[in-house]
Amino acid sequence: MTIKQVMVIGAGQMGAGIAQVCAQSGYNVFLHDANEQALHNGMEGIKKRLAKAVDKSRITESEKQEAIDRLTPATEMEDVSKCDMAIEAIVENADVKKNVFRELDAHAPSHAILATNTSSVSITEIAAATNRPEQVIGMHFMNPVPVMKLVEIIRGLQTSDDTYTKIADMASALSKTSVEVDDAPGFAANRILMPMINEAIFAVHEGVASVEDVDTVMKLGMNHPMGPLTLADFIGLDTCLYIMEVLHDGYKDSKYRPCPLLRKYVNAGWLGKKSGRGFYQYE
Ligand code: CAA
Ligand code: NAD
Repeated sequence: MTIKQVMVIGAGQMGAGIAQVCAQSGYNVFLHDANEQALHNGMEGIKKRLAKAVDKSRITESEKQEAIDRLTPATEMEDVSKCDMAIEAIVENADVKKNVFRELDAHAPSHAILATNTSSVSITEIAAATNRPEQVIGMHFMNPVPVMKLVEIIRGLQTSDDTYTKIADMASALSKTSVEVDDAPGFAANRILMPMINEAIFAVHEGVASVEDVDTVMKLGMNHPMGPLTLADFIGLDTCLYIMEVLHDGYKDSKYRPCPLLRKYVNAGWLGKKSGRGFYQYE
């Protein structure tokens, strides 16, 4: 079976990026979101980014049009019945993801692979919600997807070698470099990144330095492209908190306790760039 038709579930910042990269790499893509406005915004964002790429002579006008022609907005998840694989990129919450995987499993053809872009939820746990655990796998892209080269590929306990090979090949076809990572809390990327972000929030919480100065320390002192608080806003503070909770719960180690300031911001609805306010304010 060759993967030709893909469904991306979730048209937020990650889903829209994944759909864009798949369409630009020759896959036919259904992009689905439970929220119609989010689906519209996701599609418009892709068109805007492709138009910008033409302006910068990164792609031609016809390459832009071909990518757009391969993309179809899908209001119904049942369209997965026409797909060879699905990539889920909805909210970071294990129960919500498991419900979506039950539905995907019910409608997808028997050969289809079901992948998740989760940042931290156990692949084994998500796979157990389906009747095809050997065809469930983690395909963890980094944000922003069109720019970042890495994909973490995570096998669940029962993921087959065939599923792994097909997803590793697909990552290559998307011009990404993949690494194989164990199904451990936070995998590798977020086990390393999130404690740094959480510690930066503690530094602000405890008055060690201001938001701007903490970011300046890491930008100018460590050559990071973004300071950790800008990056937290960019990722989404809800996602950061959820990942810290998965690390804390999974390792039972107090070093992973989420900073109370992070929890306070999320409770206030300050989710970062996507909600207009986080550690910084956005227009
Ligand atoms: N979507 C798509 N493309 C984007 C983008 C976005 N949101 N933001 C920027 N870009 C593109 C721009 O269009 C530009 O492309 P061209 O070179 O073709 O013009 C390129 O990226 C560079 O953009 P800018 O010049 O505007 O800005 P920059 O040089 O400051 O780079 C950045 C922006 C790439 C985001 C850079 O700041 C960066 O690398 N930041 C760190 C990102 C990071 O750490 N990501 C990982 C987050 S953790 C994660 O993803 C895992 C998880 O589970 C939470
Ligand atoms: P987001 O909030 O930008 O988008 C999530 C989208 O999912 C929203 O448009 C929402 O309407 C939709 N959605 C929610 N429940 C749904 C459902 N039941 N069915 C269909 N659509 C549903 O989130 P995001 O930042 O794109 O993150 C998505 C996933 O990617 C999360 O699992 C996150 O952990 C992971 N991830 C995020 C980043 C990041 O930097 N933000 C990086 C890598 C991985």
